[in-house]
Amino acid sequence: MAEPTKDLILKNMWYLALPGAALKPGKLVHRTIANERIVFGRDAAGSVFALKDNCPHRGVPLSDGHVLANGNIQCCYHGWEFDSQGVCKNIPAMPPDSKADISKIRAWKFPVSEIHDTVWVYIPEKLSPNVEVKTAVPDMHLTADQKFLHVESIVLPTNIDHSVIGLIDPAHVTFVHQSWFWRSAKSLKLKTKNFEPTPLGFKMVRHAPSANSKGYKVLKGDVSTEIFFDIPGNRLEHISIGEKHKVISITTLTPINETSTELNHFFYSSLAITRWLWWPLKSLGKTFIGQDVDVFYKLAKGLENDPTLMLVGEPDAQARWYYELKKQWKASQDQNTEFRNPLRGETLRWVT
Ligand code: FES
Ligand SMILES: [Fe+2]
Repeated sequence: MAEPTKDLILKNMWYLALPGAALKPGKLVHRTIANERIVFGRDAAGSVFALKDNCPHRGVPLSDGHVLANGNIQCCYHGWEFDSQGVCKNIPAMPPDSKADISKIRAWKFPVSEIHDTVWVYIPEKLSPNVEVKTAVPDMHLTADQKFLHVESIVLPTNIDHSVIGLIDPAHVTFVHQSWFWRSAKSLKLKTKNFEPTPLGFKMVRHAPSANSKGYKVLKGDVSTEIFFDIPGNRLEHISIGEKHKVISITTLTPINETSTELNHFFYSSLAITRWLWWPLKSLGKTFIGQDVDVFYKLAKGLENDPTLMLVGEPDAQARWYYELKKQWKASQDQNTEFRNPLRGETLRWVT
């Protein structure tokens, strides 16, 4: 089996932080991502910002403070104020004739990007006042004006590696995602799928969806699907329907710390019908994710014993690729060299 890399959480990477709609103007939201405590908010123009969630004065979480009418964030302890870039703007207790240059005081900021109504944060190897972004924001296969609908956010009781492997593992589908309306174990078939490397991962090349998934049959027209996986933990499925329609579904995994991971699922569709079907579709999505979460809790229980694990044969090949990608990424960041994808094109077969 491939050795899991010692460095569990990849750095110099963009991680999905939260759906854009979860950040209301005038509100501060805390998230722990890759062991970093971060406060998210919106400035007066509505742009998202992210700061280390500690007041530079005595460390109280800024997320326990509030946003003032002028857009500044005020700490709840001694009332220090910061702008959205983390620059200190006011120390209420300081006498008016003080010579102290308070603009030198900064809450450190994280690079953030809001795309298609999703908010992403860049986690650097080392946080500094001026973080240099070395990696592009993930490509969502949407045009700038197209927006995702948010299906679900849920915390998994497993680390990023187990969560990712669970996400890209084809073999559990038959046993975990049994649904009368989707597929049944009686219809097992040998699948042959072609894979190609991509800049940060691999993709299952465009193909007609499997004949034993009824879910696809409701989509009329020439349907084909392409599934991408990118490190650190993003799975994107791009379904094309006829010439001009597309459905994009993305599942992101964001490590909270060494033992838990947040899963988010988003959905985009150009078909008018999916707007009418949004609630049933959303509940179908939640059902699927719920089935995964159930098995992740069982897995977490089993892992308490620290068992030896295996990755065996073609059904587990994608998990081995994931570890290879991680190892290569870590090496490239340590040596400050360009990341070179170690994977080659390959065909995998499994029965599901
Ligand atoms: S700890 Fe924030 S103002 Fe003192
Ligand atoms: Fe699953």
